[in-house]
This record gives sequence, structure tokens and C-alpha cells, in this order.
Amino acid sequence: MRVALGADHGGFRLKEIIKKHLESQGFEVEDYGTNSLEPVDYPDYAVRVGKTVAAGEAVFGILVCGTGNGMAMAANKVPGIRAALCVDGYTAGMARRHNDANVLALGERVIGEGVALEVVDIFLASCFEQGRHRARVGKIELAAMSSNN
Ligand code: RB5
Repeated sequence: MRVALGADHGGFRLKEIIKKHLESQGFEVEDYGTNSLEPVDYPDYAVRVGKTVAAGEAVFGILVCGTGNGMAMAANKVPGIRAALCVDGYTAGMARRHNDANVLALGERVIGEGVALEVVDIFLASCFEQGRHRARVGKIELAAMSSNN
């Protein structure tokens, strides 16, 4: 499974840890940067990863900034992206099972490495439950389409 990763300077260190973790588990990781602690603008990375996932070039995206907020906000502006900011495993599992989230946003300054990797593992292992959630997720897309018209 291919996973697209992105981070700003506030998420660079955690992004590197996640990258090693995923590679050791056999995931195909596409790293869209950033690659240092030099300040950069998080929307550039969120949009790059979001477009990659929306185009089907990666199954999931994982975005890390200081809080995860900026990454989630920016990624959710890309059509077809449902980015979820998660700080615990329960929220991460529900983001997949009920919301069919395709991008996970994390805050390096908010959660520790252990919880972050648990959140990543649960997010990637959880499946959308379909059923009644299919129509609800469809309404998210409808809302996005009507606000673009
Ligand atoms: C960078 O200082 C910080 O604003 C950024 O990483 C992120 O937390 C934005 O939401």
C-alpha cells in the first residue's frame, strides 16, 4: 500500500519517525517533504499530498505540522480529501470506519511518538464500514460541490 507523507518544519521530526516506521512494515512511502527544520508553509505540503491522494497515486496521506490543524484545514480544501486531525487511537479508527478519512493529520507538538505511531497504525488498519455512513460521507461531497458553484 502506498502512503504519501508531508510535513512542515513543525512536523519534520515526527514525519521522519513515521516514515521509518511505515517502511519497516513494508508500506511504500512517498515523502513529499519538508526535509529539514527550515521554516516552510504547511499549505504547500498539505495540497501536494492531498492532490496525490485525490488522484489515486497514494491510498492514504499522512500530514504532520506543529498542531495538525493547519495541515487538516489545507488538505480539506482539495476536492475528494477527507482529512482527520487525530490525537488518539479511538478517533483515528472512527475517522476511517465512519468518515472514510483518506488523510491523517498529526501534531508533533501535541502528541508523543508512541501515541503518534499507534494513531498511524490504527488509521491504516481500519476500514470504512459503508452502510449508513456511505450516504453521510456523500453529503460531505455534496456540500463541497454546492459551495463551489
Ligand atoms: C508552525 O509554527 C506552525 O504554525 C505549524 O506547524 C502548524 O502548527 C500550523 O497549523
